Amino acid sequence: MKGIVLAGGTATRLGELTRITNKHLLPIGDYPMIYYPLQALQRAGITEICLISGKEHAGRFIELLGDGTVVDRTGVEVFNLDITYRMQTKPGGIAQAIALAKNFVGNDKFVVVLGDNIMEYSIAPYVKKFVEQSDGARILLWKPENSSAYGVPDIDEEAKTIRQVEEKPKNPKSLYAVIGVYMLDSRVFEYARQILPSARGELEVTDLLNEYIKHSRLEYDILQGWWRDAGQSQRELHEISALIYETGANK
Ligand code: G1P
Repeated sequence: MKGIVLAGGTATRLGELTRITNKHLLPIGDYPMIYYPLQALQRAGITEICLISGKEHAGRFIELLGDGTVVDRTGVEVFNLDITYRMQTKPGGIAQAIALAKNFVGNDKFVVVLGDNIMEYSIAPYVKKFVEQSDGARILLWKPENSSAYGVPDIDEEAKTIRQVEEKPKNPKSLYAVIGVYMLDSRVFEYARQILPSARGELEVTDLLNEYIKHSRLEYDILQGWWRDAGQSQRELHEISALIYETGANK
């Protein structure tokens, strides 16, 4: 199975911190932010990875990660990955970025992790379930303090299915957020051609998920342990660092 890490976007919510650098290169805990989603994939046994970034900072990612073999200053191997790079020349949303990986993915199933998503526990158990799933998509849900800042699922608790996913709704239909780990099959490239830009002018990942729902092909799990989207505010970057020091990440 292949993996995709999305590290584009303009990160307007992080103010001066991202004036000259990319959000995913900012420090969190002991590492640049991008290490966490890469480690999440590596610990789930996924080593063939496509990193998608904007062209302004692409060179920095290549300097940092090279071909995917990364050894720290003490000689300890941090990553043993096979990384391919792709550019998103205009910020057009997560769904547009995913579509750029079509040739990389081919007909395989794959896992997308947003470059600013950090989790306490390894995603390996969920990826294992996805491997066993014949086709379709699988997402992970978690209860944040304020679900309306994220993609929110409308859940049919009895049928254990999702009726719809809404992007940052004013009146969220559940307390859950759809976190930035999307397990997809190659059908998504067809869906990416069908969806239309949202009010903010982006192709939304939630619309891709709604296409899977239309075809009854969306499964979900509730994520155990904590989850954070590190793109929300400067203050939260520090809070997430503290959490990582306390509990570790991708355990
Ligand atoms: C994106 C997605 C949203 C998802 C979130 C998870 O939002 O659009 O559906 O819940 O990532 O981190 P962003 O934070 O990029 O605006």
